[in-house]
Amino acid sequence: MFARAIIALGALAATAYAQTNVTLTNNCTYQVDPAFYPAVNASDGSTTGGFPLDSGASANVTLDPTYSGRIWGRTGCDADGNCLTGSCPGGENCTGPAAAGPTLAQFTLDGYAGLDYFNPSTTDGFNLPVTITPGSGCSTGPQSCTADNEGTGCGDTSTCPTGTSYTISFC
Ligand SMILES: *[C@@H]1O[C@H](CO)[C@@H](O)[C@H](O)[C@H]1NC(C)=O
Ligand SMILES: *[C@@H]1O[C@H](CO)[C@@H](O)[C@H](O)[C@H]1NC(C)=O
Ligand SMILES: *[C@@H]1O[C@H](CO)[C@@H](O)[C@H](O)[C@H]1NC(C)=O
Ligand SMILES: *[C@@H]1O[C@H](CO)[C@@H](O)[C@H](O)[C@H]1NC(C)=O
Ligand SMILES: *[C@@H]1O[C@H](CO)[C@@H](O)[C@H](O)[C@H]1NC(C)=O
Repeated sequence: MFARAIIALGALAATAYAQTNVTLTNNCTYQVDPAFYPAVNASDGSTTGGFPLDSGASANVTLDPTYSGRIWGRTGCDADGNCLTGSCPGGENCTGPAAAGPTLAQFTLDGYAGLDYFNPSTTDGFNLPVTITPGSGCSTGPQSCTADNEGTGCGDTSTCPTGTSYTISFC
């Protein structure tokens, strides 16, 4: 009786908080400040619109179950979030999208038929290479924008089963 109640609660929690894991990896030789619009959950559970990421470092965030938005890397940022590329309203902790400029990683989770839709894109511009790599459970390979080359694979929309984890690499 007691055990059954615990199992029921566990199933409920798993449904309500089925978030998508995203690992951000900074393969650039310089600091990149990942930015998110709308905001996502940082690994400590707080809400974040962006933070600094050292060269060679990685960080984990989670996206809400039906997240639809954009993730991009800012370059040349000072501590207040004034950046050479990719600056957003709100400073370091973005509260809005960047004006035209950065390479985007766009996601719509659970968009249709139990699938996530995503692409790297240069529709707004190109500031650094971006690669989206799906994790296990999805056969789609890494998708990259390595230059301002929309239409050559860059910009194409891919799908994975909802629940897949993703890595976004800068450079
Ligand atoms: C997401 O990350 C959490 C915490 O590391 C982990 O428990 C969970 O299994 C991950 N989910 C997937 C689908 O990889
Ligand atoms: C980024 O660096 C990691 C660790 O060195 C490597 O596994 C990964 O393939 C790199 N990603 C890209 C897109 O080059
Ligand atoms: C973060 O996680 C909490 C639950 O742990 C959730 O209520 C919230 O909507 C999440 N999303 C954001 C953007 O903070
Ligand atoms: C970033 O902004 C969110 C609101 O969107 C807030 O909840 C969070 O505490 C802020 N984080 C930092 C580090 O200031
Ligand atoms: C991110 O999550 C992965 C998988 O759970 C874990 O191996 C890695 O250590 C995490 N990275 C950080 C910076 O916490």
